[in-house]
Amino acid sequence: MGIIQKVDLDWKNLGFAYLKTDLRFMAHYRDGTWSDGALTEDNHIHIHEGSTAIHYGQQAFEGLKAYTTKDGRILIFRPDQNAKRLRNSALDVMMPPVPEELFLRAVQAVVRANLKWVPPYGLGASFYLRPYLIGVGQNMGVRPAPEYHFGVFGCPVGAYFKSGLAPVRFITSARDRAAPHGTGQAKVGGNYAASLLAHEQAVKAGYADCIYLDPLSHSKIEEVGAANFFGITRDGKFVTPKSDSILPSITKYSLMEVAQKYLSLPVEESDVSIYHLDEFAEAGACGTAAVITPIGGITHNGREHLFGDGKTVGPVTRKLYDTLTGIQYGDVAGPSGWMVEVDQG
Ligand code: PLP
Ligand code: COI
Repeated sequence: MGIIQKVDLDWKNLGFAYLKTDLRFMAHYRDGTWSDGALTEDNHIHIHEGSTAIHYGQQAFEGLKAYTTKDGRILIFRPDQNAKRLRNSALDVMMPPVPEELFLRAVQAVVRANLKWVPPYGLGASFYLRPYLIGVGQNMGVRPAPEYHFGVFGCPVGAYFKSGLAPVRFITSARDRAAPHGTGQAKVGGNYAASLLAHEQAVKAGYADCIYLDPLSHSKIEEVGAANFFGITRDGKFVTPKSDSILPSITKYSLMEVAQKYLSLPVEESDVSIYHLDEFAEAGACGTAAVITPIGGITHNGREHLFGDGKTVGPVTRKLYDTLTGIQYGDVAGPSGWMVEVDQG
């Protein structure tokens, strides 16, 4: 492996925005078979106007990150988990799953083909990968597509919420992103289309994002925009909502393991009542893009509940953040199989 000449970017101040990198991966499914797929320079796809992805939202996507370590290795965080979740999402909207081998090969190929875009160690940035699967091909009626397109592209990113590791405020939404017994557990575009207005309303009102409540009773916390919720109780327990209509966050399940194994905290998935937030000394949003974003306050029905003084990062949240990101950047040994090294050729 030679020295990679990186592109000239302000790595420390990257936001969460698209940047065209050199190569992306595309594969096609037709007549029951996936093509091998290949890398391409073109960042547009040419699809039939009748594609189900366009009309009926038959699609799913993923998000995962690669990190540069102090000694120059590049590690991808738990790509097998994203492959499995894309499989579940695909089955939920009647798409043929992308074989795990194809998914992992595509993700590796995209990182390897864009090494000069992968942020160097120590600048708080990472390389975000966006796999997606869409129904394409000639069609008119409401039915699964005859063909499918699988793609993976990636670009360097910084913080999703502008603050980085500083508490931000959220407001509950009267709208729902998913229905009870619907597609809330799947990472499908329809859930995100349904979230756009609620997000916009929250941001216009001066909040970082909205908090969704359970769609059945609107009394329990579900998700924090495009991230899962966790709270640390006053007696030091890691608590996170249990619900069939939220996305099973890989970061959340990883944090549950980190809390237990590294910080010796009890963990619990259970209902989180919006009316009992004072049980928590700390709260946070977690996800691939959000990493861990401390929650300073939550406004519900016109009343704001602050966690602590609303401005200070809690000690447990900080430890969770340091341990998780330590594992991701290769500074802390992670559980077996979590970090997958990219062969830089
Ligand atoms: N919830 C929603 C709705 C999301 O879009 C995401 C992002 O992927 C998450 C939660 C966090 O999931 P993960 O930790 O797997 O990124
Ligand atoms: C992620 O964290 O990967 C997400 O998908 C969140 C959002 C950007 C959709």
